[in-house]
Amino acid sequence: MTKFIGIYNNKGGVGKTTLSLFISDFLSSITINQKKSRVLVIDFDPQASCSNAILGINKISNIRSKQRTLPHALLEKIKGSKCIKLEDYIFTREKKEKPGTRKVKLGNLDVISSSSELVTEFEESSSLDDSLLISKWMKDQLSGKYDFVFVDLPGNLSKRNGYSLVGAFLVDFFIIPTELNRININAIPLTLKILDSIKEWRGEDNQFKLLGFVLNKADKRTKQYRLHKDELVQFANIRGCKIFDSVLPPTPKLSNATDDSIEFFTLSDRYDTYYKNVRSLVLEIVESLGFSIKRKKNSATV
Ligand SMILES: Nc1ncnc2c1ncn2[C@@H]1O[C@H](COP(=O)(O)OP(=O)(O)OP(=O)(O)O)[C@@H](O)[C@H]1O
Ligand SMILES: [Mg+2]
Repeated sequence: MTKFIGIYNNKGGVGKTTLSLFISDFLSSITINQKKSRVLVIDFDPQASCSNAILGINKISNIRSKQRTLPHALLEKIKGSKCIKLEDYIFTREKKEKPGTRKVKLGNLDVISSSSELVTEFEESSSLDDSLLISKWMKDQLSGKYDFVFVDLPGNLSKRNGYSLVGAFLVDFFIIPTELNRININAIPLTLKILDSIKEWRGEDNQFKLLGFVLNKADKRTKQYRLHKDELVQFANIRGCKIFDSVLPPTPKLSNATDDSIEFFTLSDRYDTYYKNVRSLVLEIVESLGFSIKRKKNSATV
């Protein structure tokens, strides 16, 4: 069954896109139960930094000129087009791997790209109920075709963001990336409140589970980590979710990737340095989704 996993934190710049990139890229590269996972990323942020980092800026401008970004699809759908197929909006990352630079081979990764174009037009011509209907339509089209669908959401979601809410309505499992500092901890209650609103808008028989928090730019040895961890534990306990033990460490070379649309796979040192962290985080997430994993070097067998 396809698992729809949403990466969300209401606060901006906490690593939602970075986490979406790391886990989707890594998961598409390894085998689970001796089988390659089929992985799709849907970019629901009009800024489109996730799509740019996966496909590269040239490919994205090509996709935009062909009117094949997500808002193009959703607008067509809302206008009542009957012949629209989501598969026409899915693009596979090219395998332009530099030989010998990766411990894990580049896998097949599919993306539905975002764009700032037409988002306002979509939002002006649709209601919250339309967003719910469109997310159901998307889910029907994608279910069974992928093992994992990652939904990269923007921060600052509200009732007015009908476009990104389509993504929030698709999600079965939410993960909240956060940094462990005062500003980030203070922002958690609002994020949880917005998840509660999403719950309410979705209705009783269309619910999701909050899997837990992933700590980004975290260093377990620091005072800051110890100081704020307990507060996050309290939020996790109240919500009955976990804090993933594996963290995303600070990755200096990464810091401009999403801002400058540098293709993520070209940052070839990321696995050499951070391979172990990303691997254990991905396996932990997959386990929390109900898979049981035998841990082996370079692969995971269910
Ligand atoms: N672990 C990390 N190490 C170093 N830099 C990081 C790390 N995680 C994120 N960054 C950097 O921090 C910035 C914000 O990250 P990112 O774009 O992933 O956040 P976001 O939550 O998706 O932001 P937005 O709310 O704008 O969508 C980017 O420049 C990114 O490269
Ligand atoms: Mg982002």
